[in-house]
Amino acid sequence: MKDAGKKYYRAVSEIFKSSHSSLGTKRVLLSVVRNTIKALEVDGCSVLLLDETKHYLIPSVAQGLSDWYLRKGPIDAVRSLGETMQGKVVYIADATSDPRVQYPDLARRAGITSIISIPIPKKKNEIVGELRLYNRQPREFTKEEQNFLVSVADLTSLFLENAYLEGLIRQQDVTAKAEEGPTALTQALREPLAFGHPSEEDFARLLDFYRVEWLYEPRTFVLGNSEQPGEMFTPDFYLPEMDSYIELTTSKQRLMTEKNRKIRRLKELYPEVNIRLLNKKDYFRMLAKYGYGPLAKDGVEAIDRVMLSSAEIQRRVRQLAKQISADYTGQRLLLVGVLKGVIFFMADLMRHLTVPLTVDFLAISYYTNATSQAVRITKDLDRSRKGAHILLVEDIVDTGMTAKYILHHLESHKPSSLRVCTLLDKRSRRLTDVKLDYVGFEIGDEFAVGYGLDHKGEYRNLSFIGVLKPDLLVVDKSTSPGSRS
Ligand code: IMP
Ligand code: MG
Repeated sequence: MKDAGKKYYRAVSEIFKSSHSSLGTKRVLLSVVRNTIKALEVDGCSVLLLDETKHYLIPSVAQGLSDWYLRKGPIDAVRSLGETMQGKVVYIADATSDPRVQYPDLARRAGITSIISIPIPKKKNEIVGELRLYNRQPREFTKEEQNFLVSVADLTSLFLENAYLEGLIRQQDVTAKAEEGPTALTQALREPLAFGHPSEEDFARLLDFYRVEWLYEPRTFVLGNSEQPGEMFTPDFYLPEMDSYIELTTSKQRLMTEKNRKIRRLKELYPEVNIRLLNKKDYFRMLAKYGYGPLAKDGVEAIDRVMLSSAEIQRRVRQLAKQISADYTGQRLLLVGVLKGVIFFMADLMRHLTVPLTVDFLAISYYTNATSQAVRITKDLDRSRKGAHILLVEDIVDTGMTAKYILHHLESHKPSSLRVCTLLDKRSRRLTDVKLDYVGFEIGDEFAVGYGLDHKGEYRNLSFIGVLKPDLLVVDKSTSPGSRS
C-alpha cells in the first residue's frame, strides 16, 4: 500500500531527526514510541529495556498507557511475553486471558485487548529489550506492518548501542532504582528527559521541591473525529497523588483558545480523566490546596525544605499498618499515643489497622531544675491495662530519653507485651538505647515540623513534614515546667 509506505517513511525519518539533535536518549525513544503510534494508529506503545540481571524489563518510555499500568510492578522477562526474549515477534489477541501475559487483570482494567511485542536486538543472539504496542480493540498486524516494526526495533537498537557507548544510559542505575519501588522508577524514567518548554521545567522543579510525584507527558490522547482525523493531545504532566493531568499555559490567547478546545474535547471523550489547564497563578493555587507552595497559608513560609510529602507519609503509614496488623493477628491491640505530636500519625495508622484495637493517651511534661531535666506523666492511661498488648505510638524518637521513660512507666501497667512504633527516628542523636519495633522513617539531625510535630506549639497542621528554616529554630528548652509537645 502506497499510503502506508509514506507513513512508514515519515515515521522513520522523524525518528532519525530526533536522533541527530542533542535531545538525549529518552527523547529519541519517545520519538520512536510516538511515531510508531502515529504510523500504525495504535493506542499505546512502550520501549522496555532488560535490566542488568536480565530477569526484568524496565519500561523506559511509553505513551498512551495509564501510569498505574506502567508502574504495575516488576515485569518478568520470562513470564511476560517471554518468547520475545528468544527473538520472536509475539502477538497476543486477548491480553485479558492469554497465559503469556503477566498481569492480565491489569490489562483488563486498562482496557488493553491486544499486544504485540517486538524484540530489540543487540547482537545476533542477544536481545536488550522490547518494543510493545497496545490496543483497546483487537488489532491484527499485516506482514508489512510487522516488517515495519522490526525495522523500528532495529533502529532503536542502533540508538541504544550509541547511547551505551556514550555512557548516556547506565543500566545499573535503572536497575537499582527499579528495586526501590515505583517512585524511584518514575524518577529513573524521567531523569534524562528534556522539557519542551522552560515553564515546564520550572513547574517540574517546583513539584520536586514539594516532593509531589510527577510524570512528564506520559500519555497521548487520541481526539480524532471525522473533521480532524488523527488529532492528538499530550498533556504536559500527570500528578499521581492528585490523579490529575496538567497542561501548562502561556498567555498567548491564540494558543489558549486552541488548548481549551482540545481539553473540552478530551473531557467529552474521556470523562474519567481529570485534566486541568494551568497558568502560574493557578498552579500555585492548586499546590496550596495540598498545603504546598507560596500561596499555602499556615506557616509554610517557615519551611526550608519538604522532608516528606504527605503522599510519602501516607504510603509508609499504610505499610506499617499492614505489618503491624499481620504481627498482631488474633490479638487485641492497645495503642498508646503520647500527646500531642502523635495525633496525625495515630489517626492515620489506626485507620489502616485491621486487628481489633482500643486507644489511650499519655500526656507528659518536661521540667528543668538546677541540675537536670526530667519528664513527668501529667496524664496516665484512663484505666489499668494489665495483660494488654500495648503498642506505644510515638511521633519521633530523638535522644530516646522520653521513650525510655514512658516504656518504663508502661511496664508498671503489667502488659502482656509492649512494643514501640515511631513515625520518625533520629537515630544519630540517640543517647540511650531503646528498641524500636516499627520505624516509619529514619531521618537526619534536622528539626522536623508538620504532620502533628511542632516547634513551640506551631506548624502541627501542615499535611507534610518539613524542615524548619534554621534561623527560626529556638534551641532553648529551659522554660520550666513546660508541657510536652
Ligand atoms: P527525645 O529526645 O527522644 O526524648 O525526644 C523528645 C521529644 O522531643 C519528642 O517526643 C518530640 O516531642 C521532641 N522532638 C525531638 N525532635 C523533634 C523534631 O525534630 N521536631 C519536633 N519535635 C521533636
Ligand atoms: Mg513535640
